[in-house]
Amino acid sequence: MTRPAAGARRHLALDEVGSTNAVALEAARAGDPGRLWITAGRQTAGRGRRGRSWLSERGNLYATLLLVDPAPDRHVVDLPLVVALGVRNGLAELSGLEPGLVRIKWPNDILIAGAKAVGILLESEKGRDGRRAVAIGCGVNVESGATETPYAVTSLREAGYTGTLATVFDHLAAGVDEALELWDAGRQFERVRSEWLRHSVGRGEGCRVNLPDGTSVEGTFVDLDQDGRLVLDEGRGQRRHFSAGDLF
Ligand code: BTN
Repeated sequence: MTRPAAGARRHLALDEVGSTNAVALEAARAGDPGRLWITAGRQTAGRGRRGRSWLSERGNLYATLLLVDPAPDRHVVDLPLVVALGVRNGLAELSGLEPGLVRIKWPNDILIAGAKAVGILLESEKGRDGRRAVAIGCGVNVESGATETPYAVTSLREAGYTGTLATVFDHLAAGVDEALELWDAGRQFERVRSEWLRHSVGRGEGCRVNLPDGTSVEGTFVDLDQDGRLVLDEGRGQRRHFSAGDLF
């Protein structure tokens, strides 16, 4: 992986904020051109997917990349998969981690040895000037995983990582930069799709898709179609396609 030279990346490092995603969207409203990383040592109102909160104590990484008009809207829906691939690839290179154990779970959780180590939340809004801002927020369990979740969680420390928080951010940001380059504003989605599949878990297994209205659908995860939508077999030959992009 080629790392951007230090200083080439626009990075606003904050100590404590409500939510780095909220700060990013605010920056876009104020006219920021995007490609800006925002990190915080702690969040007091960290946001998770499906309206949940994200416990954000010191020691873990809270990072958001703001993109402004990254691609035509029909390609912006690819971003959850692009970002998951970039985060996965960046973190898999951290010393002490076993790359083969760092996997993606649809649409964009990152698991290490089967337990969640990273959550990703994309939020998007269109400004009055017509520009689309996308906040790509990543919560990485570096020191500890949140307790009392319905799923297994882990942390980079638990997985054997001995380096610093700053190095985690550097790898994550470099991995996301590289995945965005591979994707090339939607022109190379097939490359992202095949790499995503290579590093993911759950194909051929039971899967639940949580819908924005609070309901969920269960079936077998068959594949990702050419547009990156999850193909779910609900039984008796019934197949449905779900776009991760519709969910943010
Ligand atoms: C999930 O529910 O799995 C997604 C969690 C995303 C958390 C990150 S932490 C940095 C960014 N700021 C937020 O408020 N949320 C995201």
